[in-house]
Amino acid sequence: MRTHVVDHPLVAHKLTALRDVGTDSPTFRRLADELVTLLAYEATREVRVEPHDIATPVSPTTGVRLATPKPLVVPILRAGLGMLDGMMRLLPTAEVGFLGMMRNEETLEAITYAERLPDDLAGRQCYVLDPMLATGGTLAAAIKFLTDRGADHITAICLLAAPEGCERVEKDLAGLDVPVTVVTAALDERLNEKGYIVPGLGDAGDRLYGVV
Ligand code: URA
Repeated sequence: MRTHVVDHPLVAHKLTALRDVGTDSPTFRRLADELVTLLAYEATREVRVEPHDIATPVSPTTGVRLATPKPLVVPILRAGLGMLDGMMRLLPTAEVGFLGMMRNEETLEAITYAERLPDDLAGRQCYVLDPMLATGGTLAAAIKFLTDRGADHITAICLLAAPEGCERVEKDLAGLDVPVTVVTAALDERLNEKGYIVPGLGDAGDRLYGVV
Protein backbone atom coordinates (compact mmCIF):
# COMPACT_ATOMS: atom_id res chain seq x y z
CA MET A 1 0.00 0.00 0.00
CA ARG A 2 1.17 3.49 -0.85
CA THR A 3 0.21 6.52 1.25
CA HIS A 4 0.20 9.85 -0.55
CA VAL A 5 -0.09 12.95 1.65
CA VAL A 6 -1.08 15.83 -0.60
CA ASP A 7 1.26 18.72 0.08
CA HIS A 8 -0.46 21.91 -1.10
CA PRO A 9 -1.12 25.20 0.70
CA LEU A 10 -4.82 25.22 -0.24
CA VAL A 11 -5.23 21.70 1.12
CA ALA A 12 -3.55 22.75 4.38
CA HIS A 13 -5.68 25.90 4.57
CA LYS A 14 -8.98 24.08 4.11
CA LEU A 15 -7.97 21.27 6.44
CA THR A 16 -7.12 23.77 9.19
CA ALA A 17 -10.58 25.31 8.90
CA LEU A 18 -12.16 21.82 8.97
CA ARG A 19 -10.27 20.93 12.14
CA ASP A 20 -11.40 24.11 13.90
CA VAL A 21 -14.01 23.25 16.54
CA GLY A 22 -15.68 26.61 15.80
CA THR A 23 -16.51 25.64 12.20
CA ASP A 24 -20.26 25.07 11.88
CA SER A 25 -21.88 22.21 9.96
CA PRO A 26 -22.75 24.10 6.74
CA THR A 27 -19.21 25.45 6.50
CA PHE A 28 -17.76 22.04 7.38
CA ARG A 29 -19.73 20.41 4.55
CA ARG A 30 -18.61 23.03 2.04
CA LEU A 31 -14.95 22.78 3.09
CA ALA A 32 -15.02 18.97 3.01
CA ASP A 33 -16.49 19.14 -0.48
CA GLU A 34 -13.79 21.54 -1.70
CA LEU A 35 -11.02 19.56 -0.03
CA VAL A 36 -12.15 16.30 -1.62
CA THR A 37 -12.02 17.89 -5.07
CA LEU A 38 -8.41 18.91 -4.45
CA LEU A 39 -7.56 15.42 -3.19
CA ALA A 40 -9.43 13.86 -6.12
CA TYR A 41 -7.17 15.69 -8.55
CA GLU A 42 -4.17 13.87 -7.05
CA ALA A 43 -6.06 10.61 -6.54
CA THR A 44 -7.00 10.32 -10.22
CA ARG A 45 -3.48 10.59 -11.60
CA GLU A 46 -3.65 6.94 -12.65
CA VAL A 47 -7.24 6.91 -13.89
CA ARG A 48 -7.37 4.86 -17.07
CA VAL A 49 -7.91 6.68 -20.34
CA GLU A 50 -8.04 5.60 -23.97
CA PRO A 51 -7.23 7.47 -27.19
CA HIS A 52 -10.08 9.53 -28.56
CA ASP A 53 -10.20 11.15 -31.99
CA ILE A 54 -11.79 14.58 -32.27
CA ALA A 55 -11.63 17.58 -34.56
CA THR A 56 -10.75 21.02 -33.25
CA PRO A 57 -11.98 24.02 -35.28
CA VAL A 58 -8.54 23.90 -36.92
CA SER A 59 -7.64 20.24 -37.43
CA PRO A 60 -8.27 16.65 -36.46
CA THR A 61 -6.36 15.46 -33.42
CA THR A 62 -6.24 12.62 -30.97
CA GLY A 63 -6.85 13.20 -27.28
CA VAL A 64 -8.06 10.89 -24.54
CA ARG A 65 -11.27 9.99 -22.76
CA LEU A 66 -12.01 7.87 -19.71
CA ALA A 67 -11.65 4.21 -20.59
CA THR A 68 -14.38 1.64 -20.05
CA PRO A 69 -15.28 0.10 -17.73
CA LYS A 70 -15.83 3.46 -16.04
CA PRO A 71 -14.29 4.05 -12.65
CA LEU A 72 -16.47 3.23 -9.67
CA VAL A 73 -16.73 5.65 -6.74
CA VAL A 74 -17.65 3.98 -3.45
CA PRO A 75 -18.54 6.17 -0.45
CA ILE A 76 -18.53 4.31 2.87
CA LEU A 77 -21.76 5.21 4.69
CA ARG A 78 -22.40 7.46 6.46
CA ALA A 79 -19.57 9.99 6.52
CA GLY A 80 -18.24 9.06 3.07
CA LEU A 81 -21.42 10.54 1.57
CA GLY A 82 -20.09 13.98 2.49
CA MET A 83 -17.25 13.37 0.03
CA LEU A 84 -19.30 12.20 -2.94
CA ASP A 85 -20.15 15.50 -4.64
CA GLY A 86 -16.57 16.73 -4.39
CA MET A 87 -15.37 13.54 -6.08
CA MET A 88 -18.05 13.46 -8.78
CA ARG A 89 -17.20 17.03 -9.75
CA LEU A 90 -13.98 15.66 -11.25
CA LEU A 91 -15.35 12.32 -12.46
CA PRO A 92 -18.93 13.09 -13.50
CA THR A 93 -19.25 9.98 -15.66
CA ALA A 94 -18.06 7.56 -12.99
CA GLU A 95 -20.55 5.10 -11.54
CA VAL A 96 -21.34 5.14 -7.84
CA GLY A 97 -21.73 2.15 -5.55
CA PHE A 98 -22.54 2.26 -1.84
CA LEU A 99 -21.06 0.33 1.04
CA GLY A 100 -22.34 0.54 4.62
CA MET A 101 -19.92 -0.83 7.19
CA MET A 102 -19.95 -0.86 10.95
CA ARG A 103 -18.02 -2.50 13.76
CA ASN A 104 -19.45 -5.63 15.37
CA GLU A 105 -19.03 -4.68 19.04
CA GLU A 106 -18.51 -8.34 20.06
CA THR A 107 -15.93 -9.41 17.53
CA LEU A 108 -14.65 -5.84 16.85
CA GLU A 109 -14.56 -6.80 13.16
CA ALA A 110 -16.05 -4.57 10.46
CA ILE A 111 -19.30 -5.95 9.08
CA THR A 112 -21.17 -4.93 5.94
CA TYR A 113 -24.74 -3.84 6.73
CA ALA A 114 -25.63 -2.35 3.34
CA GLU A 115 -24.29 -2.79 -0.14
CA ARG A 116 -25.27 -1.59 -3.60
CA LEU A 117 -22.45 -2.54 -5.93
CA PRO A 118 -22.09 -4.44 -9.20
CA ASP A 119 -21.54 -8.18 -8.58
CA ASP A 120 -18.63 -8.21 -11.00
CA LEU A 121 -15.93 -5.60 -10.55
CA ALA A 122 -13.41 -7.28 -12.84
CA GLY A 123 -11.13 -4.70 -14.36
CA ARG A 124 -12.66 -1.82 -12.39
CA GLN A 125 -10.74 1.02 -10.83
CA CYS A 126 -12.43 1.89 -7.54
CA TYR A 127 -12.24 5.14 -5.55
CA VAL A 128 -13.22 4.53 -1.93
CA LEU A 129 -14.37 7.58 0.05
CA ASP A 130 -13.86 7.37 3.81
CA PRO A 131 -13.04 10.63 5.59
CA MET A 132 -11.18 9.26 8.63
CA LEU A 133 -8.62 6.46 8.36
CA ALA A 134 -8.52 5.79 12.11
CA THR A 135 -8.12 2.14 13.22
CA GLY A 136 -8.13 1.00 9.58
CA GLY A 137 -10.51 -1.94 10.14
CA THR A 138 -13.33 -0.53 8.03
CA LEU A 139 -11.16 0.60 5.15
CA ALA A 140 -9.28 -2.71 5.02
CA ALA A 141 -12.60 -4.61 5.00
CA ALA A 142 -14.02 -2.34 2.28
CA ILE A 143 -10.97 -2.85 0.10
CA LYS A 144 -11.15 -6.63 0.59
CA PHE A 145 -14.83 -6.56 -0.32
CA LEU A 146 -14.09 -4.76 -3.60
CA THR A 147 -11.09 -6.87 -4.55
CA ASP A 148 -13.01 -10.08 -3.77
CA ARG A 149 -15.44 -8.95 -6.46
CA GLY A 150 -12.62 -8.40 -8.93
CA ALA A 151 -11.62 -4.72 -8.57
CA ASP A 152 -8.04 -4.48 -9.79
CA HIS A 153 -7.01 -0.96 -8.75
CA ILE A 154 -8.02 0.77 -5.51
CA THR A 155 -7.53 4.35 -4.40
CA ALA A 156 -8.90 5.41 -1.02
CA ILE A 157 -9.44 9.11 -0.41
CA CYS A 158 -9.38 10.10 3.26
CA LEU A 159 -9.44 13.60 4.66
CA LEU A 160 -7.20 12.47 7.51
CA ALA A 161 -5.22 9.36 8.36
CA ALA A 162 -3.61 8.01 11.54
CA PRO A 163 -0.37 6.01 11.40
CA GLU A 164 -2.12 3.13 13.22
CA GLY A 165 -4.77 2.97 10.49
CA CYS A 166 -2.23 2.95 7.69
CA GLU A 167 -0.33 0.13 9.40
CA ARG A 168 -3.50 -1.92 9.90
CA VAL A 169 -4.57 -1.57 6.27
CA GLU A 170 -1.07 -2.49 5.15
CA LYS A 171 -1.04 -5.55 7.42
CA ASP A 172 -4.57 -6.73 6.55
CA LEU A 173 -3.90 -6.42 2.84
CA ALA A 174 -0.46 -8.04 2.86
CA GLY A 175 -0.28 -10.46 -0.04
CA LEU A 176 -3.10 -8.78 -1.96
CA ASP A 177 -2.11 -8.58 -5.60
CA VAL A 178 -3.92 -5.30 -6.32
CA PRO A 179 -2.35 -1.83 -6.14
CA VAL A 180 -3.81 0.18 -3.25
CA THR A 181 -3.11 3.87 -2.66
CA VAL A 182 -4.37 6.03 0.19
CA VAL A 183 -4.56 9.73 -0.68
CA THR A 184 -5.00 12.02 2.32
CA ALA A 185 -4.67 15.67 3.32
CA ALA A 186 -2.59 14.80 6.41
CA LEU A 187 -1.08 11.96 8.37
CA ASP A 188 -1.82 12.93 11.97
CA GLU A 189 0.03 12.00 15.16
CA ARG A 190 -1.91 9.08 16.61
CA LEU A 191 -5.20 7.68 17.86
CA ASN A 192 -6.40 8.46 21.37
CA GLU A 193 -7.86 5.86 23.77
CA LYS A 194 -11.31 6.33 22.22
CA GLY A 195 -10.05 5.72 18.70
CA TYR A 196 -10.21 9.36 17.63
CA ILE A 197 -7.48 10.79 15.45
CA VAL A 198 -5.27 13.34 17.26
CA PRO A 199 -5.30 16.26 16.60
CA GLY A 200 -7.95 15.19 14.06
CA LEU A 201 -11.21 17.00 13.53
CA GLY A 202 -13.59 15.07 15.78
CA ASP A 203 -16.37 12.83 14.51
CA ALA A 204 -16.60 13.51 10.78
CA GLY A 205 -20.13 12.07 10.45
CA ASP A 206 -21.45 14.18 13.33
CA ARG A 207 -19.79 17.31 12.02
CA LEU A 208 -21.23 16.73 8.55
CA TYR A 209 -24.71 15.58 9.51
CA GLY A 210 -25.23 16.22 13.22
CA VAL A 211 -25.40 13.77 16.12
CA VAL A 212 -28.21 11.34 15.22
N1 URA B 1 -13.94 8.59 12.98
C1 URA B 1 -14.12 9.92 13.07
O1 URA B 1 -15.12 10.46 12.59
N2 URA B 1 -13.17 10.66 13.70
C2 URA B 1 -12.07 10.12 14.24
O2 URA B 1 -11.24 10.84 14.79
C3 URA B 1 -11.90 8.72 14.13
C4 URA B 1 -12.85 7.97 13.50
